[in-house]
Amino acid sequence: MRIANFKIEEWMNRYESSALYDLTTTCISPLSVNDLPYEKSIFDVKLGYGDITGSERLKTAIKSLYENQELENITVTHGAIGANQLVFLSLLEKGDEVVSIVPTYQQHYSIPESLGASVKLLFLKEENNWLPDLEDLDRVVTSKTKLLCLNNPNNPTGSVIPDWMLEKIVEIAQKKNVWILSDEVYRGLNLIGKPYSKSIADLYSKGISVGSMSKTYSLPGLRVGWIAAREDLVVEINHQRQYNTISVSILDDYFASVALENRDEIAQRNFSIMHSGLKILKNWLEREPQVDCVMPIGGTTALIRYNKDIPSRKLCRDLQAKTGVAILPGETLEMEGYLRVGYCVEPGCLEAALEKFSEYLRGV
Ligand SMILES: Cc1ncc(COP(=O)(O)O)c(C=O)c1O
Repeated sequence: MRIANFKIEEWMNRYESSALYDLTTTCISPLSVNDLPYEKSIFDVKLGYGDITGSERLKTAIKSLYENQELENITVTHGAIGANQLVFLSLLEKGDEVVSIVPTYQQHYSIPESLGASVKLLFLKEENNWLPDLEDLDRVVTSKTKLLCLNNPNNPTGSVIPDWMLEKIVEIAQKKNVWILSDEVYRGLNLIGKPYSKSIADLYSKGISVGSMSKTYSLPGLRVGWIAAREDLVVEINHQRQYNTISVSILDDYFASVALENRDEIAQRNFSIMHSGLKILKNWLEREPQVDCVMPIGGTTALIRYNKDIPSRKLCRDLQAKTGVAILPGETLEMEGYLRVGYCVEPGCLEAALEKFSEYLRGV
């Protein structure tokens, strides 16, 4: 199966570890095992495969993130990356039509393309505060469309689709009998209003929610994600899943359960990092005339427009070589002329990195 290069992941593999100031990340400073209130007895647990589709304890904790999902509606995966892939493998065949709202995680258009689907991209626009235009959506999604993919809150723009708009999107999909895959890995990180938006799985019988421990719960190293969807689809997904997962590590399953059971404490810590980062970003944007940005209202990243006539890849390579600051070029997100900044890093690092970025901009 041929598949396009995964531009973001390739860029990060190449540049992230050598950065002195890493703003390419989408994670909120990760937690350690010692940050979690684990029971010592975990060290006595035999490292078998464990419960194949996720332990009852973990699925119960995941269920509590939704309004009306049951344990049978949930399957545990190898991160959200594994979840997304399983959804595509389970639903799509050659010739199917998929609409993907971009910018987004590249899996949402490159995997469908690799499976032979015809993919239509619907670009979010800055003038709409990076929210989907419902009239455009109603035009692009047709009765031939099988699946609509979106990412809410959105990476990279930090926009959050309000619940009323999610309901309108569901109406459009329902009218045309279209599945919706909503990648909700940043759900729980709304900076305005309630931290958790409604989940697509709770709103729509053909809504598929993908979640993960990586972003909202600061545990990307656990490699635990999940899918919540209606039971017949989860059965189909588990059928595919037999071939690529068996189970997630029994340790990952355990620590994910503990973290979700203590998510209020994690949220308190994470919102404090997010709000500090947002303040630093906002102050910097006010001082820096060469960039502009619709402020994020959720998630961990901001998409910044710059006013230099330099391709984003060149700018980012140059910036990192001269200053050690790593930022993600918009081209890797199909958004040339923009840069993605992860603002939920340690505040001192963010402040220093943005200062260095300004010095660099003054020099080019
Ligand atoms: C929108 C989105 N989906 C999925 C993933 C993959 O997440 P995970 O670490 O859970 O596999 C990412 C990672 O950056 C992401 O931003």
